[in-house]
Amino acid sequence: MIILGIETSCDETSVSAVKASNDKIEILSNVVSSQVKLHAKWGGVVPNLAAREHLKNIIPVLEESLEKASIKREEIDLISVTQGPGLIPALLVGTNFAKTLSYLWKKPLIGIHHIEGHIYANFVGLSNKKSEIKFPILALVVSGGHTQLVLMKDHLKYEIIGETQDDAVGEAFDKVARILDLGYPGGPIISQESEKFNGKSNINLPRPMLNSKDFNFSFSGLKTAVLYATKDYKEKKSLSSSFISEMAHEFQEAAVEVLVKKTMKAAEKYNPKTIMLAGGVSANKELNKQMKESIKNNFPNIIFLTPKSQLSLDNAAMIATAGYYRWKNMNSSQKKEFLENWKLLQADAGLKMK
Ligand code: KG4
Ligand code: ZN
Repeated sequence: MIILGIETSCDETSVSAVKASNDKIEILSNVVSSQVKLHAKWGGVVPNLAAREHLKNIIPVLEESLEKASIKREEIDLISVTQGPGLIPALLVGTNFAKTLSYLWKKPLIGIHHIEGHIYANFVGLSNKKSEIKFPILALVVSGGHTQLVLMKDHLKYEIIGETQDDAVGEAFDKVARILDLGYPGGPIISQESEKFNGKSNINLPRPMLNSKDFNFSFSGLKTAVLYATKDYKEKKSLSSSFISEMAHEFQEAAVEVLVKKTMKAAEKYNPKTIMLAGGVSANKELNKQMKESIKNNFPNIIFLTPKSQLSLDNAAMIATAGYYRWKNMNSSQKKEFLENWKLLQADAGLKMK
């Protein structure tokens, strides 16, 4: 079957066509139109500006996606759209567009939780039949809005065993980049700056909640520590490139250490067969390296999954993939109801993962 995915929850307009055959997902197209440059001027995503850009781009992105996939609309079996969470003006563009297509083309419509999409990005290219996907899965969700440890005993079954008490880790990367005058979005820039530093650092940043008994996180204190250390430095000298790369490096080390250690601690308790990364911060090289090493050293039998390139950041292929797994789980009368879902589906900025 062919699934059309639509994602507009934040600052990427994306439409993708994926093909599921023998339970294996293959991407036919995954067009992403990024608004990063537009929002960079404002130091973060401006919701109404994002909505306006989504409106402008969504039809050309759909056309390009269908063309790249070499498919006609008749071949589409299901439309899968991000329902939430996200910025409501942005979500409304994607959901209304998907509802219109569902009505006009008479295709079933399914709403997907954005984080469920990030998790399912890991399953692209894997075959369910050959049981390449082994449960229970422990997923470390790290994005601009979320930092969670999620236990999945089976497909579509989520138990949040820990989460951030304040800022999400991606948000902390973005805020630290702003403190260091590096622009938006912070993640990729902090990561690049960090690579430039290869000495012994004199900066000591805290590792918040590293030894707490639960599986929760906190990144707000870490960001504040960067702010104060940078202020102190600026009182003495102007920001130098060596200070920036040292601070970026130290911040990334602190964040990665907490993420990896907490994941190992959760693995000890829950005995997963697979550990995966999901969300924008899963593009971070150092996080991938340290997580992989730590799993190899502590739990050599656990499989490590991380999204393939282009699938870490927001995209519609992950939404289409999650849609396929939801669809596959339904009986025929449920499937029939989803033909009428264009009447019911509502964007929900605070959608909870169920
Ligand atoms: O998943 P995502 O694209 O959007 C949300 O669902 O929030 O994640 C965006 C976040 C941003 O905070 C961005 O700074 C961060 O992911 N990010 C990174 C990297 N690339 C993107 N963080 C660390 N290292 C990266 N290479
Ligand atoms: Zn995302």
